[in-house]
Amino acid sequence: MNSKFFGKTKEGKEAFLYTISNSQGMEVCATDFGATVVSIFVKDKDGNRRDVVLGYDDVSDYQKGTSYFGATVGRNCNRISNAKVTIDGTEYPLEANDRGNNLHSGSNAVSEQIWSVASQEENRITFHYTSPDLSEGFPGTAEIDVTFEVTEDNSLAIHYHAVSDKKTVFNFTNHCYFNLNGHDGANVLDHVLEIHASHYTPVSSNKAIPTGEIAEVEGTPFDFRTAKRIGQDIEADHEQLSYGGGYDHNFALDRTGDGVEKMAEIYSPESGIHMDVLTDRIGMQLFTMNFIGGHPGKGGISYNGRASFCLETQFFPNAINEPNFVTPLTDAGEAFDSRTVYHFSVSDK
Ligand code: GAL
Repeated sequence: MNSKFFGKTKEGKEAFLYTISNSQGMEVCATDFGATVVSIFVKDKDGNRRDVVLGYDDVSDYQKGTSYFGATVGRNCNRISNAKVTIDGTEYPLEANDRGNNLHSGSNAVSEQIWSVASQEENRITFHYTSPDLSEGFPGTAEIDVTFEVTEDNSLAIHYHAVSDKKTVFNFTNHCYFNLNGHDGANVLDHVLEIHASHYTPVSSNKAIPTGEIAEVEGTPFDFRTAKRIGQDIEADHEQLSYGGGYDHNFALDRTGDGVEKMAEIYSPESGIHMDVLTDRIGMQLFTMNFIGGHPGKGGISYNGRASFCLETQFFPNAINEPNFVTPLTDAGEAFDSRTVYHFSVSDK
Protein backbone atom coordinates (compact mmCIF):
# COMPACT_ATOMS: atom_id res chain seq x y z
CA MET A 1 0.00 0.00 0.00
CA ASN A 2 1.39 3.41 -0.98
CA SER A 3 1.13 5.37 2.27
CA LYS A 4 3.27 7.36 4.65
CA PHE A 5 2.93 8.72 8.16
CA PHE A 6 1.33 12.17 8.20
CA GLY A 7 1.61 13.07 11.87
CA LYS A 8 -0.65 12.77 14.87
CA THR A 9 -3.82 14.62 15.77
CA LYS A 10 -4.00 16.46 19.08
CA GLU A 11 -5.88 13.43 20.43
CA GLY A 12 -2.84 11.31 19.51
CA LYS A 13 -4.40 9.54 16.54
CA GLU A 14 -2.06 8.72 13.67
CA ALA A 15 -2.85 10.03 10.22
CA PHE A 16 -1.51 8.75 6.92
CA LEU A 17 -0.99 10.16 3.47
CA TYR A 18 -1.89 7.99 0.48
CA THR A 19 -0.73 8.50 -3.10
CA ILE A 20 -2.64 7.43 -6.19
CA SER A 21 -1.49 8.02 -9.74
CA ASN A 22 -1.95 7.22 -13.43
CA SER A 23 0.64 6.36 -16.08
CA GLN A 24 0.68 9.96 -17.42
CA GLY A 25 2.45 11.38 -14.37
CA MET A 26 -0.63 12.73 -12.62
CA GLU A 27 -0.53 12.08 -8.88
CA VAL A 28 -2.96 12.81 -6.06
CA CYS A 29 -2.08 12.62 -2.36
CA ALA A 30 -4.89 12.34 0.15
CA THR A 31 -4.96 11.90 3.90
CA ASP A 32 -7.37 9.86 5.96
CA PHE A 33 -7.91 12.94 8.14
CA GLY A 34 -11.12 14.33 6.69
CA ALA A 35 -10.68 12.31 3.47
CA THR A 36 -8.68 15.35 2.40
CA VAL A 37 -6.89 16.01 -0.89
CA VAL A 38 -3.44 17.29 0.05
CA SER A 39 -1.76 17.55 -3.38
CA ILE A 40 -2.64 17.25 -7.06
CA PHE A 41 0.41 17.06 -9.31
CA VAL A 42 -0.26 17.75 -12.99
CA LYS A 43 1.98 18.75 -15.89
CA ASP A 44 2.13 22.31 -17.18
CA LYS A 45 2.68 23.43 -20.80
CA ASP A 46 6.44 22.75 -20.48
CA GLY A 47 5.92 19.28 -19.09
CA ASN A 48 6.92 20.30 -15.55
CA ARG A 49 4.84 18.98 -12.66
CA ARG A 50 3.02 21.49 -10.49
CA ASP A 51 1.05 20.85 -7.32
CA VAL A 52 -2.15 22.81 -7.99
CA VAL A 53 -3.87 22.73 -4.58
CA LEU A 54 -3.12 24.50 -1.31
CA GLY A 55 -2.51 22.42 1.78
CA TYR A 56 -0.32 21.58 4.74
CA ASP A 57 2.57 19.20 5.41
CA ASP A 58 1.20 17.62 8.56
CA VAL A 59 -2.14 16.57 10.00
CA SER A 60 -1.81 18.90 12.97
CA ASP A 61 -1.94 21.92 10.65
CA TYR A 62 -5.09 20.55 9.03
CA GLN A 63 -6.61 20.16 12.48
CA LYS A 64 -5.68 23.75 13.44
CA GLY A 65 -6.73 25.21 10.10
CA THR A 66 -10.19 26.67 9.60
CA SER A 67 -10.17 26.82 5.81
CA TYR A 68 -11.11 23.20 4.99
CA PHE A 69 -8.20 22.90 2.52
CA GLY A 70 -9.01 19.92 0.26
CA ALA A 71 -11.40 18.39 2.77
CA THR A 72 -14.45 16.26 2.26
CA VAL A 73 -17.09 18.55 3.76
CA GLY A 74 -20.32 17.13 5.14
CA ARG A 75 -22.73 15.83 6.12
CA ASN A 76 -23.81 19.25 4.95
CA CYS A 77 -21.44 21.62 3.21
CA ASN A 78 -21.98 25.38 3.21
CA ARG A 79 -24.32 27.26 5.52
CA ILE A 80 -27.53 26.47 7.39
CA SER A 81 -29.34 29.50 8.83
CA ASN A 82 -29.95 29.74 12.58
CA ALA A 83 -28.02 26.50 13.05
CA LYS A 84 -30.99 24.16 13.05
CA VAL A 85 -32.86 21.83 10.73
CA THR A 86 -36.39 20.47 10.97
CA ILE A 87 -37.00 17.05 9.50
CA ASP A 88 -40.54 15.60 9.57
CA GLY A 89 -41.51 17.97 12.40
CA THR A 90 -38.52 17.28 14.62
CA GLU A 91 -36.05 20.08 15.16
CA TYR A 92 -32.36 19.20 15.31
CA PRO A 93 -30.00 21.85 16.71
CA LEU A 94 -26.62 22.19 15.02
CA GLU A 95 -23.47 23.98 16.11
CA ALA A 96 -23.65 27.75 15.55
CA ASN A 97 -20.04 28.02 14.38
CA ASP A 98 -20.48 30.90 11.94
CA ARG A 99 -22.06 34.04 13.38
CA GLY A 100 -25.24 32.32 14.54
CA ASN A 101 -25.39 29.97 11.57
CA ASN A 102 -23.89 26.56 10.84
CA LEU A 103 -20.95 26.32 8.43
CA HIS A 104 -19.76 23.04 6.91
CA SER A 105 -21.58 21.07 9.64
CA GLY A 106 -19.51 22.30 12.59
CA SER A 107 -16.14 21.93 14.23
CA ASN A 108 -16.36 18.18 14.74
CA ALA A 109 -17.73 17.26 11.31
CA VAL A 110 -16.55 14.50 8.97
CA SER A 111 -13.79 16.83 7.69
CA GLU A 112 -12.21 16.62 11.16
CA GLN A 113 -12.33 12.85 11.59
CA ILE A 114 -9.92 10.06 10.74
CA TRP A 115 -11.55 7.89 8.08
CA SER A 116 -10.65 4.27 7.44
CA VAL A 117 -9.33 3.04 4.10
CA ALA A 118 -11.94 0.71 2.62
CA SER A 119 -9.87 -0.10 -0.47
CA GLN A 120 -6.84 1.11 -2.37
CA GLU A 121 -5.47 0.42 -5.83
CA GLU A 122 -2.72 2.10 -7.83
CA ASN A 123 -5.05 4.82 -9.11
CA ARG A 124 -7.91 4.88 -6.58
CA ILE A 125 -8.67 4.95 -2.91
CA THR A 126 -11.93 4.72 -0.97
CA PHE A 127 -12.19 6.26 2.49
CA HIS A 128 -14.99 5.18 4.81
CA TYR A 129 -16.45 6.86 7.88
CA THR A 130 -19.34 5.88 10.12
CA SER A 131 -20.98 9.06 11.35
CA PRO A 132 -22.95 8.27 14.53
CA ASP A 133 -26.61 9.15 15.03
CA LEU A 134 -26.96 12.84 15.96
CA SER A 135 -23.30 13.59 15.33
CA GLU A 136 -23.11 17.31 14.68
CA GLY A 137 -26.87 17.23 15.33
CA PHE A 138 -27.89 15.32 12.22
CA PRO A 139 -30.20 12.31 12.61
CA GLY A 140 -29.25 8.77 11.61
CA THR A 141 -26.15 6.63 11.73
CA ALA A 142 -24.55 7.29 8.37
CA GLU A 143 -22.14 5.06 6.46
CA ILE A 144 -20.14 7.35 4.21
CA ASP A 145 -17.70 6.44 1.42
CA VAL A 146 -15.62 8.82 -0.64
CA THR A 147 -13.60 7.49 -3.56
CA PHE A 148 -10.83 9.42 -5.27
CA GLU A 149 -9.70 8.06 -8.62
CA VAL A 150 -6.97 9.34 -10.95
CA THR A 151 -8.05 8.38 -14.45
CA GLU A 152 -5.89 7.89 -17.54
CA ASP A 153 -7.34 11.08 -19.04
CA ASN A 154 -5.87 13.10 -16.15
CA SER A 155 -8.97 13.56 -14.05
CA LEU A 156 -9.48 13.39 -10.33
CA ALA A 157 -12.89 11.72 -10.14
CA ILE A 158 -14.66 11.95 -6.79
CA HIS A 159 -17.55 9.69 -5.84
CA TYR A 160 -19.63 10.15 -2.69
CA HIS A 161 -21.86 7.36 -1.42
CA ALA A 162 -23.79 7.61 1.83
CA VAL A 163 -26.64 5.74 3.51
CA SER A 164 -28.33 6.59 6.81
CA ASP A 165 -30.82 4.60 8.89
CA LYS A 166 -32.88 7.78 9.39
CA LYS A 167 -33.92 10.47 6.97
CA THR A 168 -31.12 13.03 7.03
CA VAL A 169 -29.23 15.77 5.23
CA PHE A 170 -26.57 14.62 2.78
CA ASN A 171 -24.77 17.34 0.89
CA PHE A 172 -21.08 16.62 0.44
CA THR A 173 -18.47 18.63 -1.37
CA ASN A 174 -14.73 18.69 -1.78
CA HIS A 175 -13.03 21.89 -0.69
CA CYS A 176 -9.87 22.01 -2.81
CA TYR A 177 -8.31 25.45 -3.07
CA PHE A 178 -6.83 25.47 -6.57
CA ASN A 179 -4.12 27.60 -8.08
CA LEU A 180 -3.31 26.36 -11.58
CA ASN A 181 0.14 27.97 -11.41
CA GLY A 182 0.93 25.82 -8.42
CA HIS A 183 0.05 26.16 -4.74
CA ASP A 184 2.89 28.67 -4.42
CA GLY A 185 1.46 30.84 -7.20
CA ALA A 186 0.76 34.46 -6.26
CA ASN A 187 -2.96 34.80 -6.92
CA VAL A 188 -5.65 33.59 -9.27
CA LEU A 189 -6.82 36.95 -10.64
CA ASP A 190 -5.45 36.14 -14.12
CA HIS A 191 -7.07 32.71 -14.26
CA VAL A 192 -9.75 32.70 -16.95
CA LEU A 193 -13.01 31.19 -15.71
CA GLU A 194 -16.20 30.10 -17.41
CA ILE A 195 -19.22 28.84 -15.43
CA HIS A 196 -22.26 27.46 -17.17
CA ALA A 197 -24.77 29.26 -15.00
CA SER A 198 -27.25 31.94 -15.97
CA HIS A 199 -28.41 32.28 -12.37
CA TYR A 200 -26.88 32.54 -8.91
CA THR A 201 -28.21 32.76 -5.37
CA PRO A 202 -27.62 36.22 -3.88
CA VAL A 203 -27.04 36.44 -0.13
CA SER A 204 -28.78 38.71 2.34
CA SER A 205 -25.75 40.00 4.24
CA ASN A 206 -22.11 39.31 4.98
CA LYS A 207 -23.25 36.13 6.77
CA ALA A 208 -23.62 34.57 3.32
CA ILE A 209 -27.09 33.05 3.74
CA PRO A 210 -29.01 33.16 0.43
CA THR A 211 -32.11 35.34 0.23
CA GLY A 212 -33.96 32.51 -1.55
CA GLU A 213 -33.96 34.37 -4.84
CA ILE A 214 -32.50 32.66 -7.89
CA ALA A 215 -31.27 35.74 -9.71
CA GLU A 216 -30.02 36.26 -13.24
CA VAL A 217 -26.28 36.78 -13.67
CA GLU A 218 -26.91 38.92 -16.75
CA GLY A 219 -25.41 42.37 -16.31
CA THR A 220 -23.67 41.50 -13.02
CA PRO A 221 -20.10 40.57 -12.05
CA PHE A 222 -21.48 37.02 -11.63
CA ASP A 223 -21.81 36.51 -15.35
CA PHE A 224 -19.12 33.95 -16.21
CA ARG A 225 -21.06 32.45 -19.15
CA THR A 226 -18.39 33.86 -21.39
CA ALA A 227 -14.91 33.17 -20.08
CA LYS A 228 -13.33 36.08 -18.25
CA ARG A 229 -10.47 36.72 -15.83
CA ILE A 230 -11.45 36.11 -12.21
CA GLY A 231 -9.97 39.51 -11.49
CA GLN A 232 -11.98 41.32 -14.17
CA ASP A 233 -14.96 42.28 -12.02
CA ILE A 234 -13.95 41.10 -8.54
CA GLU A 235 -13.51 44.66 -7.26
CA ALA A 236 -16.66 45.96 -8.97
CA ASP A 237 -18.95 48.17 -6.94
CA HIS A 238 -21.63 45.54 -6.36
CA GLU A 239 -23.42 44.90 -3.07
CA GLN A 240 -23.07 41.10 -3.34
CA LEU A 241 -19.29 41.34 -3.80
CA SER A 242 -19.04 43.66 -0.82
CA TYR A 243 -20.82 41.08 1.36
CA GLY A 244 -18.32 38.38 0.51
CA GLY A 245 -15.25 40.57 0.01
CA GLY A 246 -15.13 39.00 -3.45
CA TYR A 247 -16.84 35.91 -4.83
CA ASP A 248 -18.31 33.62 -2.20
CA HIS A 249 -21.54 32.67 -3.92
CA ASN A 250 -23.44 29.71 -5.24
CA PHE A 251 -24.19 29.43 -8.95
CA ALA A 252 -27.39 27.69 -10.11
CA LEU A 253 -25.98 25.57 -12.90
CA ASP A 254 -27.54 25.38 -16.37
CA ARG A 255 -27.96 21.63 -16.37
CA THR A 256 -29.39 19.72 -19.30
CA GLY A 257 -29.94 16.43 -17.43
CA ASP A 258 -29.22 14.54 -14.21
CA GLY A 259 -25.81 13.08 -15.09
CA VAL A 260 -22.25 14.31 -14.82
CA GLU A 261 -21.89 17.34 -17.07
CA LYS A 262 -19.18 19.92 -17.66
CA MET A 263 -20.24 22.98 -15.70
CA ALA A 264 -17.11 25.08 -15.44
CA GLU A 265 -13.69 25.44 -16.96
CA ILE A 266 -10.74 27.47 -15.89
CA TYR A 267 -7.37 28.15 -17.41
CA SER A 268 -4.15 29.81 -16.36
CA PRO A 269 -2.19 31.40 -19.23
CA GLU A 270 1.00 31.33 -17.13
CA SER A 271 1.18 27.56 -16.63
CA GLY A 272 -1.06 26.55 -19.52
CA ILE A 273 -2.96 24.30 -17.12
CA HIS A 274 -6.64 24.00 -17.85
CA MET A 275 -9.22 22.42 -15.55
CA ASP A 276 -12.78 21.34 -16.34
CA VAL A 277 -15.28 20.76 -13.56
CA LEU A 278 -17.86 18.13 -14.31
CA THR A 279 -20.59 17.29 -11.83
CA ASP A 280 -24.05 15.88 -11.28
CA ARG A 281 -24.83 18.61 -8.71
CA ILE A 282 -27.14 21.59 -9.32
CA GLY A 283 -25.03 24.18 -7.52
CA MET A 284 -21.43 25.32 -7.37
CA GLN A 285 -19.93 27.74 -4.85
CA LEU A 286 -17.20 29.98 -6.21
CA PHE A 287 -14.96 31.15 -3.38
CA THR A 288 -11.95 33.32 -4.16
CA MET A 289 -10.22 32.92 -0.79
CA ASN A 290 -11.37 36.38 0.19
CA PHE A 291 -10.80 36.73 3.90
CA ILE A 292 -8.11 34.11 4.36
CA GLY A 293 -4.48 35.10 4.33
CA GLY A 294 -1.03 34.62 5.74
CA HIS A 295 -1.31 30.87 6.27
CA PRO A 296 1.99 29.04 6.26
CA GLY A 297 1.21 26.07 4.06
CA LYS A 298 3.10 23.27 2.31
CA GLY A 299 6.83 23.87 2.20
CA GLY A 300 6.44 26.97 4.38
CA ILE A 301 4.72 28.91 1.59
CA SER A 302 2.57 31.74 2.91
CA TYR A 303 -0.91 31.63 1.36
CA ASN A 304 -2.45 35.04 0.95
CA GLY A 305 -5.92 36.28 0.04
CA ARG A 306 -7.03 35.39 -3.52
CA ALA A 307 -4.18 32.87 -3.72
CA SER A 308 -6.65 30.28 -4.94
CA PHE A 309 -10.20 29.57 -5.99
CA CYS A 310 -12.68 26.91 -4.90
CA LEU A 311 -15.41 25.49 -7.10
CA GLU A 312 -17.48 23.50 -4.59
CA THR A 313 -20.20 21.39 -6.16
CA GLN A 314 -23.30 20.97 -3.99
CA PHE A 315 -26.98 21.63 -3.33
CA PHE A 316 -27.75 25.31 -2.86
CA PRO A 317 -26.62 26.78 0.51
CA ASN A 318 -29.27 26.63 3.25
CA ALA A 319 -31.46 24.48 0.96
CA ILE A 320 -32.85 22.63 3.99
CA ASN A 321 -34.49 25.86 5.25
CA GLU A 322 -35.33 27.40 1.90
CA PRO A 323 -38.56 26.16 0.28
CA ASN A 324 -37.50 27.68 -3.03
CA PHE A 325 -34.45 25.38 -3.29
CA VAL A 326 -34.19 21.65 -4.04
CA THR A 327 -34.12 19.72 -0.73
CA PRO A 328 -30.87 18.07 0.39
CA LEU A 329 -32.71 15.33 2.33
CA THR A 330 -32.10 11.63 1.71
CA ASP A 331 -34.61 9.07 3.01
CA ALA A 332 -33.67 6.34 5.48
CA GLY A 333 -32.01 3.43 3.69
CA GLU A 334 -31.72 5.34 0.39
CA ALA A 335 -28.30 5.79 -1.16
CA PHE A 336 -26.97 9.28 -1.70
CA ASP A 337 -24.70 9.07 -4.72
CA SER A 338 -22.85 11.94 -6.30
CA ARG A 339 -19.93 12.51 -8.62
CA THR A 340 -17.66 15.43 -9.39
CA VAL A 341 -14.69 15.30 -11.74
CA TYR A 342 -11.77 17.74 -12.01
CA HIS A 343 -10.23 17.14 -15.42
CA PHE A 344 -6.81 18.58 -16.24
CA SER A 345 -5.24 19.32 -19.59
CA VAL A 346 -2.78 21.75 -21.09
CA SER A 347 -3.65 24.39 -23.60
CA ASP A 348 -1.69 27.09 -25.39
CA LYS A 349 -4.56 29.55 -25.73
C1 GAL B 1 -16.40 28.25 1.82
C2 GAL B 1 -17.34 29.30 2.24
C3 GAL B 1 -16.54 30.49 2.73
C4 GAL B 1 -15.59 30.05 3.81
C5 GAL B 1 -14.79 28.83 3.38
C6 GAL B 1 -14.00 28.22 4.50
O1 GAL B 1 -17.11 27.13 1.37
O2 GAL B 1 -18.20 29.67 1.20
O3 GAL B 1 -17.40 31.52 3.18
O4 GAL B 1 -16.32 29.79 4.96
O5 GAL B 1 -15.62 27.85 2.91
O6 GAL B 1 -13.13 29.11 5.08
